[in-house]
Amino acid sequence: MNTIIFPLPGNEALAAALVQMTGAVAGDGRFRSFPDGETYLRFTTPVRGHMAVVACTLNQPDEKLLRLYLAARTLRDLGATRVLLVAPYLPYLRQDTVFAPGEGISAKHVGEWISGFIDGLVTVEPHLHRIDSLSGIYRRPLRVVSAASSIARWIEAEVREPVLIGPDEESRQWVAAIAQRLRCPYRVLTKRRYGDRAVSVDIRELDLPTWVRPVLVDDIIASGRTQAAAIGLLKSRGLNPPVCIAVHGLFAGDASNVLDQAGSARTVSCNTVTHASNAIDLHHDIALALSELIASLR
Ligand code: R5P
Repeated sequence: MNTIIFPLPGNEALAAALVQMTGAVAGDGRFRSFPDGETYLRFTTPVRGHMAVVACTLNQPDEKLLRLYLAARTLRDLGATRVLLVAPYLPYLRQDTVFAPGEGISAKHVGEWISGFIDGLVTVEPHLHRIDSLSGIYRRPLRVVSAASSIARWIEAEVREPVLIGPDEESRQWVAAIAQRLRCPYRVLTKRRYGDRAVSVDIRELDLPTWVRPVLVDDIIASGRTQAAAIGLLKSRGLNPPVCIAVHGLFAGDASNVLDQAGSARTVSCNTVTHASNAIDLHHDIALALSELIASLR
């Protein structure tokens, strides 16, 4: 039994890396839109009796999720023994509870929907806040890739005298893990969010010498407002402009400009979402996780 990896459009580099690193077979799929906007898809690589993997990161997810559903259902109809998903960025994790009456818990709804048409999932650093574990909503075999080692290696090679700064309490897990690897200090700010593009951060005591280079680390840059607020705070305390790092660089709207204007010394991201800021390669770790998942399902 082979494993055949099919990229959804835009995920060709990820799929090619996974093929090369896992020894799987490259699958061929054609996607286009009918004139009315509906999706047409066709897979020409035979999958009957083989395991199929769909490679698709899921930023800007609404359109991609329907394509993913159609791809997974088609591969199963074509006889794939299992259909796995490699989604380096997993969306719909922010709305994980009811904040105001009448809201839906989209994290649960989307997680349960995806779990219904795949047999296993590989992802990177999912944004878990009020949900303890991804297995609470994805009830399928999972492999979650950590970006901490790769980010630590990048900082070690690129930044002198780093001090890690987490912009909010949720980021403590990453900054603590990375700071431990680098044997460098870290601080965690307190964040208040007032709206999608309105946040403030604070910390009573920063207590850092002025020659250090602050390195902001967060899981996501979306609007860029969280890291911009943190840059402003660090500047107001007389520190050097920080290097800004995100695992998932979503860079919604004017986020890149917002960070430049705020005074980021350099903004980098992992390659879970393709962007000009990609500097930290996680494909090897993702391939390892996929190989492990495949081995556990054979
Ligand atoms: C939130 O809890 C996340 O960890 C990030 O801090 C957040 O998603 C960043 O969003 P934005 O760039 O829109 O401030």
